[in-house]
Amino acid sequence: MSTMKNLQIPSDASRLPVTLPALAEKKRLGEPIVMVTAYDYPSARAAEAAGVDLVLVGDSGAMTVLGYDSTVPVTLDELLVLARAVRRGLRTPFMVGDLPFGSYEVSDEQAVQTAFRFVKEAGCDAVKLEGGGPVSVARAKAIVQAGIPVMGHVGLTPQTSTALGGYKAQGRSAHGAMKVATEALALQDAGCFSIVFEAIPSALSAELMPHMQIPVIGIGAGPATDGQVLVFHDLLGIREGLGARFVKRYAHLQEEMDAGVAAYAAEVRSRAYPGPEHGYSIDEAELQAFREAFAR
Ligand code: KIV
Repeated sequence: MSTMKNLQIPSDASRLPVTLPALAEKKRLGEPIVMVTAYDYPSARAAEAAGVDLVLVGDSGAMTVLGYDSTVPVTLDELLVLARAVRRGLRTPFMVGDLPFGSYEVSDEQAVQTAFRFVKEAGCDAVKLEGGGPVSVARAKAIVQAGIPVMGHVGLTPQTSTALGGYKAQGRSAHGAMKVATEALALQDAGCFSIVFEAIPSALSAELMPHMQIPVIGIGAGPATDGQVLVFHDLLGIREGLGARFVKRYAHLQEEMDAGVAAYAAEVRSRAYPGPEHGYSIDEAELQAFREAFAR
């Protein structure tokens, strides 16, 4: 029997919506927290069916579904369209909307207004913002004070990858590790309910975990974190190329999609599709009546 068939998937009806206390309890009990990104109704349905704990409408959707070459250009309105579709597909996971670049940095007011749009217009339970410098920490605090839970994000922060020297692992020097540690603790002190560690050494995560009271979700941060997140398209292989070192592929859907569309195109061209089973019938007498009327 395949491992896929052995998976225990909680049934829709038996599963309660995931709450902040439930996430904190998972951390306390040492139960791994599962997070995945989603950008539309089908990806949300897959996350729901798998019984994941957290769904992030990531600004990675800029690249995975909107075709931009980085996360920088995506607008708030574009992400809100994706988030609304995800909301329609989710019932139980805790849903987090990712604040896009330029939608929160300018002022606390801008950050709070953007966060409210994710909650009011797309039904998000919380928002995520990148970075743990003074600006991000102030914005996180302002949003938390406005009543919206905030997830932080340190290490590799793709929105500011140019300033970080490229899309590469962070915290690999003593100085870099201290920056990650300082930022993570500052976001925790700002009231974030959780934090993402992205692309940092596994040993650094292990050093930091005893200091983290909030659930830490890792992506390329090793096994010590409280949970893991992967980008939907990366884990399912809906992309060209291999992606980052930390990505593990659980399916190869791009190949399946390419093959499926190619087979369809070939059958249309060879007239193998549509077959008689794909058509609708009409009563012979009705057809004859039509012919006579049409010929007049
Ligand atoms: O946008 C995104 O997908 C993310 C995750 C990688 C955490 O920020």
